[in-house]
Amino acid sequence: MAMQTGCCSAAAVLLFLVVAAAGASVAGATYVRYKDPKQPIQARVEDLLSRMRIEEKIGQMTQIERHNASSAVIEKYFVGSVLSGGGSVPSEKASAATWQEMITKMQKAALSTRLGIPIIYGIDAVHGNNNAYNATIFPHNVGLGATRDPDLVKRIGRATALEARATGIPYTFAPCVAVCRDPRWGGCYESFSEDTKLVQLMTSAIIPGLQGDVSTKHPRGVPFVGGPKHVAACAKHFVGDGGTHHGISGNNTVLSFHDLMRIHMPPYYDAVIKGVASVMISYSSWNGVKMHENKYLITQILKEKMHFRGFVITDWQAVDKITTPPHKHYYHSIQETIHAGIDMVMIPFDYPEFVADVQAQVMRGAIKMDRINDAVSRILRVKFTMGLFENPFPEHSLTAQLGTKEHRELAREAVRKSLVLLKNGKGRKDGKPVLPLSKKAKKILVVGTHAHDLGLQCGGWTKSWQGQSGNGITGQGTTILEAIKSAVDKKTVIDYTEHPDKGSVSKNEDEYDYAVVVVGENPYAATAGDNLNLTIPGPGPEVIRKVCELVKCVVVLVSGRPLVVEPYLDTMDALVAAWLPGTEGHGVADVLFGDHGFSGKLPRTWVRSVDQLPMNYGDKLYDPLFPFGFGLTTKPADRS
Ligand SMILES: *[C@@H]1O[C@H](CO)[C@@H](O)[C@H](O)[C@H]1NC(C)=O
Ligand SMILES: *[C@@H]1O[C@H](CO)[C@@H](O)[C@H](O)[C@H]1NC(C)=O
Ligand SMILES: *[C@@H]1O[C@H](CO)[C@@H](O)[C@H](O)[C@H]1NC(C)=O
Ligand SMILES: *[C@@H]1O[C@H](CO)[C@@H](O)[C@H](O)[C@H]1NC(C)=O
Repeated sequence: MAMQTGCCSAAAVLLFLVVAAAGASVAGATYVRYKDPKQPIQARVEDLLSRMRIEEKIGQMTQIERHNASSAVIEKYFVGSVLSGGGSVPSEKASAATWQEMITKMQKAALSTRLGIPIIYGIDAVHGNNNAYNATIFPHNVGLGATRDPDLVKRIGRATALEARATGIPYTFAPCVAVCRDPRWGGCYESFSEDTKLVQLMTSAIIPGLQGDVSTKHPRGVPFVGGPKHVAACAKHFVGDGGTHHGISGNNTVLSFHDLMRIHMPPYYDAVIKGVASVMISYSSWNGVKMHENKYLITQILKEKMHFRGFVITDWQAVDKITTPPHKHYYHSIQETIHAGIDMVMIPFDYPEFVADVQAQVMRGAIKMDRINDAVSRILRVKFTMGLFENPFPEHSLTAQLGTKEHRELAREAVRKSLVLLKNGKGRKDGKPVLPLSKKAKKILVVGTHAHDLGLQCGGWTKSWQGQSGNGITGQGTTILEAIKSAVDKKTVIDYTEHPDKGSVSKNEDEYDYAVVVVGENPYAATAGDNLNLTIPGPGPEVIRKVCELVKCVVVLVSGRPLVVEPYLDTMDALVAAWLPGTEGHGVADVLFGDHGFSGKLPRTWVRSVDQLPMNYGDKLYDPLFPFGFGLTTKPADRS
């Protein structure tokens, strides 16, 4: 076993023993090794484990939803972890202080139990702390892939950690390190890229942002979290989530071992080297075997070969889904999962049955105590490493970190670097570039469903699992329309409407200098986003046709993935892929109006039609509309 923290010179140890002994004689208490932060972490883990009863061990392996996490339940079941499912919040528009109060109450219950082991509270902070009202919402990972800027991505990890800690949360189920090989997958926007190397680059950046930097001497696989302003991270979904058949969520990834290791495994090596605290298993199967029961990949490869010493967690209710007839049996599923090497189970609601089943199986010898001890040691190792025993409670002073001006500036920077310019005037009559746009136009048209809707701009995993339309949902934020309004000259008249047939559009289109058309996908996550046609949803195509035939137009496409645009490309004067930019719409205006140049590069291949899928960079037959890495650039406008 490798390095541990601390300590100490012989004199310091001696002094400590004297002080401890004095304390003991005064208080009449015995020295408790696991409570001593000066002890090596492994010694603390072993000491605590040796004191634990079976029900306390099973409790550590149990993660329940916050709805169920009353003080009574936490105390009775010795619950080790609580989570917020997507959109599960203490109250509508809860403030950071309200979140902290909720977690403080849970933590008090956990600390009141016999051994006083703190809970670890987890949430999907996947593009900022996206469940929290007024949080800064960053672009989804596909947009971050387009920036090619690992330093930026690291700073986003740091900001996300602070915004999670603002709400008292020390653990995020992020980053998603999927290598999405088929954009028909609803989870594709959670992937930085189809290219393994680019996913590795961003994985190596965001994990130190979230958790803090490991030193060069840090032993591989040992979890690391650098204190109360960082959070424990979770690399997901292990492994092959982005490689399923036709991009169907949670389906079968059919690949040789060699190709699995070559395409989908490398980001996990990087995550482990950076000291990632946990790894979440994928719903998907590999060559017909559910990942949640794949002992070979979880135990032999991840834990033994890769030396991962943090904990392995299931996906939401995954144990309920692993068995197929004739073994459709929860009891059997639990056994398979734990046997495969899973340490913590995201149940999230049926904890009494889970706890009873595990206990019965341990008593019968169907689940070995060694396996339980391994699981609990890993969870405790993370809790000790991150200082939860010393600092179990939310830090009040951090509430001010939610949605700060600095974080919004950072998100704005990310937005402008993530936008990919796909067409700029080529094929127009005069052949001239259209972007950057003039701020001094007399009259312009802004049109489309996505021009003035923060919910659509943020996509899935925003305030709720699936995301939703609407300007109120995130609290603060700036729509693309608002950003355009604040960018252009005060005298410029802006007509805005969702659809050119309705609302305030002049009948005389000659009046407009240009139009900005903002259309795209509606929010989705996972299975609900699986899509076999990848067309621009209605009325997008109609809006593009109507407006672009009459006015010089720039189309801004808000989507989690490349959509089929070839049929409309000729009518457009310019086309910008904006991905799912989040709350800071100013970043879009920054590049449209030339305050900054376009620099984003496609993190994915942009196909002509879905018949070409799957098509990825490096394929022998490669005839996309725009290749991986494509992106026109512009220079900042000269305003002198
Ligand atoms: C947990 O909470 C859910 C949602 O409120 C509820 O449906 C379920 O019955 C609870 N589970 C238990 C065991 O109380
Ligand atoms: C959200 O931010 C706005 C603007 O700063 C503020 O007025 C409001 O009180 C905040 N709401 C919550 C719940 O923190
Ligand atoms: C994959 O999807 C097909 C079609 O929905 C389904 O029949 C099959 O069971 C799925 N396979 C897995 C491993 O989930
Ligand atoms: C494309 O697929 C989505 C998801 O299945 C569906 O909702 C939509 O209606 C389809 N669009 C077309 C044009 O077939």
